[in-house]
Amino acid sequence: MIRLAHARELAALRELERAAGTPFREVGMAEIADDEPFSVAELRPYQADGRCWVAAPAGTPVAYLVADVVDGNGHVEQVSVRPSHARRGLGRRLIDAAAAWAASRGLPALTLTTFRDVPWNAPYYARLGFRVLPAAAWGPELRAIREHEAARGLDRWPRVAMIR
Ligand SMILES: CC(C)(COP(=O)(O)OP(=O)(O)OC[C@H]1O[C@@H](n2cnc3c(N)ncnc32)[C@H](O)[C@@H]1OP(=O)(O)O)[C@@H](O)C(=O)NCCC(=O)NCCS
Repeated sequence: MIRLAHARELAALRELERAAGTPFREVGMAEIADDEPFSVAELRPYQADGRCWVAAPAGTPVAYLVADVVDGNGHVEQVSVRPSHARRGLGRRLIDAAAAWAASRGLPALTLTTFRDVPWNAPYYARLGFRVLPAAAWGPELRAIREHEAARGLDRWPRVAMIR
């Protein structure tokens, strides 16, 4: 059910991500819900390099994850689950797929950045075994990601880097 994405599915992942963003509206974070998803051109390198996974229980993707290598660790760049299919373990299974990919490449850990106080963000990842990585422990690439996020205005709400 978890598999690599096909190139023809990338446009649908954009729509999926828009849907996954809607719950942010209910916690006063409409700007995050309105954040433009990755373009197909941005998704393509992940897909071509085998770093874009989908959950497709009935054939069509209802969740996806894209991963990078950041400071020598696997890094969850984005994970999105369609609200109609949330809380069924798809997010956890996608993260496990990224972890298996990282391990297969000899990458010692998995990192991500997320909102500290949004229930389905940092508290969720803590339940999956991630812990907050203090700024002093960030490598240069993770620091650059955080700086880019701050420049985009994401730090209006507390954000953290996490590692497993
Ligand atoms: C975060 C996300 C990927 C989790 O995927 P998922 O498949 O729903 O998660 P799982 O089924 O593996 O785990 C379910 C757990 O996630 C947390 N969770 C998921 N949705 C939640 C919500 N709306 N409110 C509170 N907790 C939630 C809970 O801990 C839940 O456990 P529970 O059902 O026992 O309470 C998904 O909710 C999502 O796409 N959210 C919007 C996009 C997003 O925030 N992406 C991350 C950006 S940093």
